[in-house]
Amino acid sequence: MTSVTPSLPLQGKNILLGISGGIAAYKAADLVRRLKERGADVRVILTPAAAEFITPLTLQALSGNPVGLSLLDPAAEAAMGHIELARWADFILVAPASADVIARIAHGMANDLLTTCILAADAPLAVAPAMNQQMYKNIATQNNLATLKSHNIYIYGPAAGDQACGDVGMGRMLEPLQLAELVVDFFKFHSKTIALPLPKPLIGMKIAITAGPTREAIDPVRYISNHSSGKMGYALATAASALGAQVTLISGPVQLATPEGVTRIDVTTAQDMLQAALSVASNHDIFIGCAAVADYRMAEVAPQKLKKSADKDQLTLQLVKNPDIIATIAALTSHRPFTVGFAAETEQLAQYAQNKLTSKNLDLICANDVSAAGQGFNSEQNAITVYGRHSEHSLVLQHKTTLAQALITLIVEQFQNEKKH
Ligand code: C5P
Repeated sequence: MTSVTPSLPLQGKNILLGISGGIAAYKAADLVRRLKERGADVRVILTPAAAEFITPLTLQALSGNPVGLSLLDPAAEAAMGHIELARWADFILVAPASADVIARIAHGMANDLLTTCILAADAPLAVAPAMNQQMYKNIATQNNLATLKSHNIYIYGPAAGDQACGDVGMGRMLEPLQLAELVVDFFKFHSKTIALPLPKPLIGMKIAITAGPTREAIDPVRYISNHSSGKMGYALATAASALGAQVTLISGPVQLATPEGVTRIDVTTAQDMLQAALSVASNHDIFIGCAAVADYRMAEVAPQKLKKSADKDQLTLQLVKNPDIIATIAALTSHRPFTVGFAAETEQLAQYAQNKLTSKNLDLICANDVSAAGQGFNSEQNAITVYGRHSEHSLVLQHKTTLAQALITLIVEQFQNEKKH
């Protein structure tokens, strides 16, 4: 009887793993194992700083190959020179990638074995940033990462969360298992026409978002509603899902396609939206109220079409107040999600937004000046100021797509900070 062994996803692939200096270097040992168990042949290069965090012996034992340490090591060069090593690699992964190594790769430096191999290699390259959140946010690092992206270098992560230095925020290296799976995905899906994958720092995070208008029936053929297009809520859902979050989108009637990977619940009235919100909220980490909920609905919906009559020039509709969805969620006493609202104002933006933050018991409010030209309603661009109880962050005027990404990242950072305290 013959037995067939299924081929492993990285069988026959040569992976060059570059490890740079940082506390996450200890996780690289596990990463070597994860790559090996998927069938890869793994060779490791340590930067001098990485060798302060993890020993070459550990990585040699796990990879089953000699570990590269120095550009000027005659014995290593004789065994497999740096150009040969660069040619050997089918894929190069730098994990953890420190701010320093990212800067050096971005500028084409070749001042150690790792950066020399990277410069000499034709193989696809991915970096997994790992650093203090402030170093990650630093404009120099962000510019260097943008340079790497423009050189078609993949950027895996980072994730948000607790950091070894005690800070909370973006900058954690993705887990070895996630990185190994991203390498598998690269070989599974890579073709020159496929867009570069976005980093997925929000894996494991659950976010519920309300979007669009609500519609309140007057009679069987008419309704009260508003001009909300739902674009901002959908852009947030798209951004959160692309960054790896599990997203539930509670949507009023809009003309928009469901973003990829998002679970959509369609509702019509404010009361429907409230029911849907209550049924999902406590199962989510973050609840974002982006919907333009009708403030009032008919006290009683007319069972038949209201007729105009020749003798009446006026018609009075009796309306009652709708429930405040976001305030109801923010008032939950158990499993209350981190709750984020929106305020579109035409004047006294800061004052009105902060009043709403307090009166609705929100954690954050995203304030939007809808009177300013070229932003907000019916515009592709927007600028937002996000107020917390003790914080204020301004996101400059930009396209709604990048604004949504920046906003989601900021919201998650604030959520992580809150959890910490
Ligand atoms: O009170 P106002 O409508 O200005 O507040 C805006 C914020 O409150 C938005 O986040 C909106 O989604 C939410 N809201 C709600 N339910 C309502 C009214 C507003 O969730 N009935």
